[in-house]
Amino acid sequence: MPFSTLLYDNRDGIATVTINRPDKLNALNAAVINELGALATQIAEDDEVRGVILTGTGPKAFVAGADIGELSACDSLQAETLSRKGSAVFRSLERCPKPVLAAVNGFALGGGCELAMACHLRVASESARFGQPEVKLGITPGYGGTVRLPRLVGRGKALELLLSGGMIDAQEAMRIGLVNRVVPADRLLPETASLLNTILENGPLAVAGCLRLVEEQHDLSLDEALALESRRFGELAGTEDFRTGTGAFLAKRTAAFRGQ
Ligand code: COA
Repeated sequence: MPFSTLLYDNRDGIATVTINRPDKLNALNAAVINELGALATQIAEDDEVRGVILTGTGPKAFVAGADIGELSACDSLQAETLSRKGSAVFRSLERCPKPVLAAVNGFALGGGCELAMACHLRVASESARFGQPEVKLGITPGYGGTVRLPRLVGRGKALELLLSGGMIDAQEAMRIGLVNRVVPADRLLPETASLLNTILENGPLAVAGCLRLVEEQHDLSLDEALALESRRFGELAGTEDFRTGTGAFLAKRTAAFRGQ
């Protein structure tokens, strides 16, 4: 499927998705959101894709937020529709059964920070900057910022970012748990791919299982979540992957998982 705002490349099972509106610092307009939604569905179903890297074009921005020009023309109903649509697309990325890593190459502001948070892991270049500046525009975040930020960094730090609208650098983002790693700008994509490859060496059903369990526990009580974990643990113990993994350990060789 051809895209007008995204670049797409699949190499050795790693799909690299690059948001490509450099003249607008990769701001999220309706076209980007629609194309990200279509791509999320495609990636989830494509057996040739085992993991995903999401990044932005150019050295300056990952995504500088929702497209403010488009947003400024919205009335209440249109804004709510825009928010619901974007949130649903981000949710589909978050629920992707394959690991989705954000390679944050610059500004990740507003919807850009929210998009990075919807990814499973975040690797930031030293030049990355994070923030939720929506309050400066007189609005609240609309793509999950008030929901995911407190879950990632805790209520106090989240409220500081949300209420001040200020930016933090990559090191501070790592210190508070907003990103997983900070790397030099010229190492961003190789280091992100390396982290993803480390994940992809593991049992595919187990990796997908961890993503799903961490996702599903949000809607459950502690006891329900633990019971679900036990059930899935039992299910995976019946797979070929489990026999492959345990067999390889006991035979002191590397496991060659088949995802079965
Ligand atoms: N929506 C639409 N256009 C945007 C944008 C956004 N969120 N962020 C940047 N742009 C556009 C600018 O309008 C400018 O376009 P122009 O050249 O046609 O005037 C271009 O991208 C470059 O941005 P500019 O502001 O000139 O770059 P800068 O280096 O001076 O500043 C930022 C970079 C990221 C600090 C600044 O662009 C900014 O604050 N952006 C908005 C961030 C924001 O509030 N996001 C939340 C939106 S809900």
